Amino acid sequence: MKRVDDFRLKFGQKEYVPIMVGGMGVDISTAELALEAARLGGIGHISDAMVNDVSDRRFDTSFVKDKTKLYKYNINNLDKSGVKFDLDVLAEATRRHVGATMEAKKGDGLIFVNCMEKLTMNGPRETLQVRMASALDAGIDGITMSAGLHLGSFGLIADHPRFRDAKLGIIVSSVRALQLFLRKNARLNRLPDFVIVEGPLAGGHLGFGLDWAQYDLATIIAEVIQYVKDEQLNIPVIAAGGIFTGSDAVSFLESGSAAVQVATRFTVANECGLPADVKQDYYRANEDDIEVNTISPTGYPMRMLKSSPAIGDGIRPGCESYGYLLDANGNCAYITSYNRELALHPDGKNISVMDKTCLCTQMRNFKLWTCGHYTYRLKDTTRRNADGTYQTLSAEHIFKDYQFSVDHQIALPV
Ligand SMILES: Cc1cc2nc3c(=O)[nH]c(=O)nc-3n(C[C@H](O)[C@H](O)[C@H](O)COP(=O)(O)O)c2cc1C
Repeated sequence: MKRVDDFRLKFGQKEYVPIMVGGMGVDISTAELALEAARLGGIGHISDAMVNDVSDRRFDTSFVKDKTKLYKYNINNLDKSGVKFDLDVLAEATRRHVGATMEAKKGDGLIFVNCMEKLTMNGPRETLQVRMASALDAGIDGITMSAGLHLGSFGLIADHPRFRDAKLGIIVSSVRALQLFLRKNARLNRLPDFVIVEGPLAGGHLGFGLDWAQYDLATIIAEVIQYVKDEQLNIPVIAAGGIFTGSDAVSFLESGSAAVQVATRFTVANECGLPADVKQDYYRANEDDIEVNTISPTGYPMRMLKSSPAIGDGIRPGCESYGYLLDANGNCAYITSYNRELALHPDGKNISVMDKTCLCTQMRNFKLWTCGHYTYRLKDTTRRNADGTYQTLSAEHIFKDYQFSVDHQIALPV
């Protein structure tokens, strides 16, 4: 009977344990978590979502405070188009977050940064360019481009000296999205180094509609692997979404995936950025406590715990401090929904917004509990303490359980 450790992910001449820990913004996949995956010979992700805020917390900078001060005059203005990111600050925050992580790296694995295209930041092109270029400047091993089609993203860094040496990959949820990406990027003569195929059971935003349950990862990944083979492209294809045991992973590796990307099991790791009490909520969740809804202003469905405090919370949009979801014209679907409710309750009190959420503020404050479909199985991965709480686990324990387990067994902590 095979285990994950019988396989290796190959990038050129180098080999890695074929386990990637997925990017989880905002700072849920912390540097500590990513570093553990790299130390153990796999691939860890940090995320650059709301990197100014992450830098403030990690390095005591005051980027968010400074931005808030600068745009304070606009807080009650419904028009947010003037609330721009300072690109130098964005570059510095990214370089700090990535640089400090890379400096701490030990072991043979790699650390990538997850870059979501949907963080349009009231200037989609220039902000994405700065985010990617400064991550490369700071020595990141690779970039995983997610939450969007990224048709033009490679082009934004084509002149960067590390464009051909850093590992660049994309997340897709269909063979069509991959075809589109490859067609649009043909002129750059630079294939992605890896393609992650994310199925409908993943956490975070989904590349599917509300009919997600009609799709299945094994079918989509078989199509992608076949396409890559037919086109004689030498691109590792990585499976993600709902891979809960080492045996789940082995079944993908045996049918041609080069690695797996996993995340949900690491949400209860000691190194994961979620607050301790929120980890207990993840553990306690039952299947019917989880839903896929459309409250994210990105327009993508998102999976989360129904008990997330963000749901229905009508807080004032926090764009002057954050503003990561503002599109090229300074709009965000939450602002529209919030303004509609404000018109109905002009005193601004007791506002509830059900259809959208202020994703920046809520993710920043860990009030939106996004999770994978199998979160309800987390309770089977640990032991309970005398007071009824669940023991959190080390990232090493979870990683090694994926790496060495057989027969769908899950190793409980000692
Ligand atoms: C809490 C959480 C946050 C996530 N945030 C992001 C994100 O910011 N960007 C992204 O591309 N994927 C995100 N994901 C998706 C994961 O990176 C990963 O691909 C997926 O969840 C794997 O499926 P699994 O959770 O069933 O193992 C998130 C997943 C979770 C559980």
